[in-house]
Amino acid sequence: MPSPPRRHIVQAEALAWLDANPAEPGTSVITSLPDVSEVAELGFEGWRGWFVGAARRILRWIPPDGVAIFFQSDIRHHGVWVDKGYLVARAAEEEAASLVWHKIVLRKEAGFQSYGRATYSHMLCISQKPRPLPTRPSPDVLPDAGFKPWSRAMGVEACRLACRYLLEETATRIVVDPFCGHGTALAVANALGLDAIGIDIGARKCRAARNLVIDLEAPPGPSR
Ligand SMILES: C[S@@+](CC[C@H](N)C(=O)[O-])C[C@H]1O[C@@H](n2cnc3c(N)ncnc32)[C@H](O)[C@@H]1O
Repeated sequence: MPSPPRRHIVQAEALAWLDANPAEPGTSVITSLPDVSEVAELGFEGWRGWFVGAARRILRWIPPDGVAIFFQSDIRHHGVWVDKGYLVARAAEEEAASLVWHKIVLRKEAGFQSYGRATYSHMLCISQKPRPLPTRPSPDVLPDAGFKPWSRAMGVEACRLACRYLLEETATRIVVDPFCGHGTALAVANALGLDAIGIDIGARKCRAARNLVIDLEAPPGPSR
C-alpha cells in the first residue's frame, strides 16, 4: 500500500530556510507573502521592497521543472491602492521569469461593495522558463475562494485549483509554502496525494499547520 503523503512543518524565517535548503527536483511553491500589516516593523516602503525581494528569492529557489504560485490580495494603504499582482509580476520580470497564468479569485460575490482590502485575490503562476500550454483548462475567474481556516488564509478551492495544475501539468511531487500560516495549501496538497513542507515564523501558526486536515469530499461549508 502506498504510504500517505508527508507533511513537514518548520518554525523558521522563510528566506533563511530557503537559503539553507536547496529545492529538490519535483518541488513547486504555493504561497501567500505576508501583508504590510503582518510585518509592520518594516514600514510601508520597506515592506514593498521586502515583498518583491522575497518573491524574487522564491523564483530563484524553485527548480527548473517547478513553478511558484502566489495568492495575494490587494490592499488600500493610506489612500493608495497596492496591487500585489503587480508586485509579483515585477519580481518575475526582474528575474526574467515567465508568467504562466494569472487568475482572479473572488472572496466575496461579484458586486459586493468594499472599503478596505480587495474582495478578490490574484493568483499568479510563474516559472523560470516558458511552459507548454495547459492540457486541461481551468477558469480565469474562480467565483468562490472556498473555505478559509482563518481570515488571511487562501481558500480551499483556490488551493485545489493550484494543486490540480501542479498534478496535471507539471512533474511536482512536493509542495512548499514558505509562509504557510495555518497550512491551507499544504492540507489540500496532502488531500490530493502530494507531499508538503511548510515554513512559518510563528509557533502557533506552525501548530495549526501541523493539525489542519481538509476533506475535499465534504459538502461545501461557510466559504466567504
Ligand atoms: C498571508 S499569511 C499566510 C496564510 C496561509 N497561506 C494560510 O492559508 O493560512 C503569511 C504568513 O507568513 C508568516 N510570516 C511573516 N513573516 C515571515 C517570515 N519572515 N518567515 C516566515 N513566515 C513569516 C506569518 O506568520 C503568516 O502566517
